Amino acid sequence: MIVTTKKLFEAAYGKYAIGAYNINNLEQCMGLFRGNLQSQAPFIIQISKGARSYTDKEMLEGIIRSADKVFPEAIFAVHLDHGDEETALDCINSGFYSSVMIDASHEPFEENIAITKRVVDAAHAKGIVVEAELGQLGGVEEHVQVDEADAKLTDPDQAKEFVERTGCDSLACAIGTSHGAFKFSGTQGLRFDVLSEIQQRLPGFPLVMHGSSSVPQEEVQRINAAGGKLLGAKGVDADQFRRAAELGVTKINIDTDGRLVWTRVHREFFRDHPENFDLRPPGKVFMAEYANFIAAKNEKLGSAGQLEEVRKLLG
Ligand code: G3H
Ligand code: 13P
Ligand code: ZN
Repeated sequence: MIVTTKKLFEAAYGKYAIGAYNINNLEQCMGLFRGNLQSQAPFIIQISKGARSYTDKEMLEGIIRSADKVFPEAIFAVHLDHGDEETALDCINSGFYSSVMIDASHEPFEENIAITKRVVDAAHAKGIVVEAELGQLGGVEEHVQVDEADAKLTDPDQAKEFVERTGCDSLACAIGTSHGAFKFSGTQGLRFDVLSEIQQRLPGFPLVMHGSSSVPQEEVQRINAAGGKLLGAKGVDADQFRRAAELGVTKINIDTDGRLVWTRVHREFFRDHPENFDLRPPGKVFMAEYANFIAAKNEKLGSAGQLEEVRKLLG
């Protein structure tokens, strides 16, 4: 069942976070649904602009619609990840998405507000919820001065003003993470001090953490042992998810870790079966491994086992 994130966030706030997983194809979609049902978790499917054009947006939407029929017990939101205004409006008008992200975080504050407000007005008119972003995610080198690094993080006072003026439904905050497999070059980590300041100014308001892959070292080593070359890859400690959830983070975005599962499975499969040229055997291994990966992630997020509670809340 496709729902907006509103009820999901109401159920989760202060207790656990909902996993938001990016998908691009059929195998990821199957693994995603299986993993979430295996762990009895509500979830968010994220579709990026790149995923929409990988084949054709209709193809990906069709796969998700089919999954909704194949797995009628599943409760999930369909969310546009990092949308620009044009893409966000396209998704709002498509009638398929229950949630969109407008990411104008690269724009100056006033422009970010103006763009976000236009998207919020269009979305709310159709009962669709909006995630916006304030602050700049990005890898911070250890030698960068603290002031310079802090300037990119979300300013707690601005966050309050931004939410009040745009009417957005959730806010992605920059609290030290970055996208991809190379998040930290040294001892940096999540900035709980900044997150706590934001929560104090926006009590009860759902916050979102992007760039939250953990980049498990065992996964990286297996990829490298099978011919990969991922050197110095490092991610967010998944044991910190619950603390972030207690501070108002209700949605945690994970894409890179899923790509690592794909890479490890396929590299190892063809290394171990050099005579094989059939796409289905590694595809089957991937779907099972991806499902296990999602279920394990949901345990860390605390969303595992919450499906029936959310179903009750939805009435
Ligand atoms: O934050 C970005 C997501 O990981 C999506 O990546 O734009 O390559 O699909 P993508
Ligand atoms: P990762 O690259 O850490 O998986 O982050 C994904 C993300 O934030 C998608 O919006
Ligand atoms: Zn992101």
